[in-house]
Amino acid sequence: MINELEKDIDRVLFSESDIKNMVKKVAAQINEDYAGKKPLLVVLLKGSVIFAADLMRSLIIDCEMDFMKVSSYSGTQSTGVINVISDLRTDIKGRHIIIIEDIIDTGSTLHKLVGLLQSRNPESLKICALLDKPSGRKADVYGDYIGGTVGNEFIVGYGLDYNEKFRNLPYIGVMRNS
Ligand code: IMP
Ligand code: MG
Repeated sequence: MINELEKDIDRVLFSESDIKNMVKKVAAQINEDYAGKKPLLVVLLKGSVIFAADLMRSLIIDCEMDFMKVSSYSGTQSTGVINVISDLRTDIKGRHIIIIEDIIDTGSTLHKLVGLLQSRNPESLKICALLDKPSGRKADVYGDYIGGTVGNEFIVGYGLDYNEKFRNLPYIGVMRNS
């Protein structure tokens, strides 16, 4: 069968085996840092779902997951306002929290989300992102656990979308004409 998605992909940036290695690397760090703890993975919808599913299966520690969907209000970067479309069901007070993100670009969404979650008094709060795009950074935020780094290009696949398309590509690629 013809792959309907691949005609729009210029090149593969991270193959399935590259991604497996990145997930393994990050999981090993989390397994070590959280041994004996029970972290809550806060999975940001929708892009992080596929990464989170693979990451969680590589964790050998006791852990839980919950989901959150947020967006930034445009033009309010300095006010710290974040639009919570769907909130956690879990009380995070006193919990060890790991935010699971697909990619950190400007960092503004994460910056505001960290402020919001900190106000709920977790025991600790860290950020895990499959990918980091440091060239896009505007807010003062960094990932504690990062799978890989990308340059200033628009990438899709493995959860990452362009207008909701390409999330189901098993690898990460650069879009044609991006
Ligand atoms: P920011 O860090 O607040 O700018 O937002 C990061 C979000 O933008 C990520 O969670 C992705 O949903 C999206 N994003 C950033 N760069 C890309 C990309 O190259 N491809 C697909 N989505 C991206
Ligand atoms: Mg997205």
